[in-house]
Amino acid sequence: IFASVPKAPADPILGLVGRFKADTSEKKVNLSVGAYRTAEGKPWILPSVAEAEKLVVLDTTQDKEYQPIDGKPENKLPVQQLLFDQSVIDSGCIATAQALSGTGSLQVIAQFLKFMGVKKVWGPNPTWGNHPKIFARALLEYETYPYWHQESRGLDFAGMMAGIQKMQEGECILLHAVAHNPTGVDPTVAQWDEIVAACRERKLIPLLDNAYQGYASGDLAKDGYAQRLFTSSGLEFFIAQSFAKNFGLYGERIGYVHAKCATKEAAEVVLSQLKIIIRQAYSSPPKHGAAIVNKVLTTPELKDMWLKELTLMSNRISDMRVALRQAIEAKGTPGTWNHVTDQIGMFTFTGLSKEQVVRMVEEFHIYMTADGRISMAGLNPSNVQYVAECIDKAARG
Ligand code: LMR
Repeated sequence: IFASVPKAPADPILGLVGRFKADTSEKKVNLSVGAYRTAEGKPWILPSVAEAEKLVVLDTTQDKEYQPIDGKPENKLPVQQLLFDQSVIDSGCIATAQALSGTGSLQVIAQFLKFMGVKKVWGPNPTWGNHPKIFARALLEYETYPYWHQESRGLDFAGMMAGIQKMQEGECILLHAVAHNPTGVDPTVAQWDEIVAACRERKLIPLLDNAYQGYASGDLAKDGYAQRLFTSSGLEFFIAQSFAKNFGLYGERIGYVHAKCATKEAAEVVLSQLKIIIRQAYSSPPKHGAAIVNKVLTTPELKDMWLKELTLMSNRISDMRVALRQAIEAKGTPGTWNHVTDQIGMFTFTGLSKEQVVRMVEEFHIYMTADGRISMAGLNPSNVQYVAECIDKAARG
């Protein structure tokens, strides 16, 4: 039965983690997956999360019963409050369902788009490698719009706007809400205004992938700008909200789907259909991550701790940006390196070519994705000089 099954290639991001673990070199550095690491290079359980987890485990009212298909109703308000003003929440026009972190939320949304009869999704070029595959799996057509400008190592805003003009009414535009993965390049506030106006004019269905709120600036409100703008514009749109990075809850698979609808009635209808998709896919979501997030967000001391932890994580990453740029520039490495500090969020899109990346991985044991992306969270004071040295060697060919 199985003899004819072809072997699939390893995942372009998670496959690198396996290779890193198997590498016995003392020099090895993991800059592949977007997961926070401490200054000592270790995974970090956020103290607010650890405290919340203790409280959750001690809570004798907790049981192991199924959650509702869309998650517990009381868990929804605090996560909505990270994205929407209270008056919008009170209007009842947001359909919210717990889902399996960012990828799971996107899967549910993709299936919902298919159910709605949407034909095509447009994503930025480049984007997170899993995006096109998620939409293809839901049998949606997928095309790209320009995003990255190689010469300036910044946003190709003119190209992006021209790309939006090619989109047809009722097609979906995928946008990264903040801290674009993999480029670390976001539209400015003024550019977001134009993007929202263009989405309205072209009658598009916006989908905001919100996986890094708090990672760009450490400030949730600032990093939540795009959502608030879309909401105040009155457009209907989707959000896929992940708590993997900003709560460090990668393995708990906790996130939410939100559909901002025009009316309360529409939100009720949308939620009823989201629940059908979820029930058929995995019945109902897991409890633990949702309980932890809820405990942090509804316990003022824990929420304060969490906000400080977000600042700490984003500051450490900013420090590493400065350190890496200084180290590269001190070597007189060919090219310009201001993009290392200009870009934001967890990643730097180095601009290294495919061949240079192969050298980084094979020769220098520095694991990074083939598109030249490095996770700044994997850098620390002990490895940043070595990484700069190797980038220098790779860039000189
Ligand atoms: C990444 O881009 O590295 C993260 O979003 C992790 C993942 O699932 O790919």
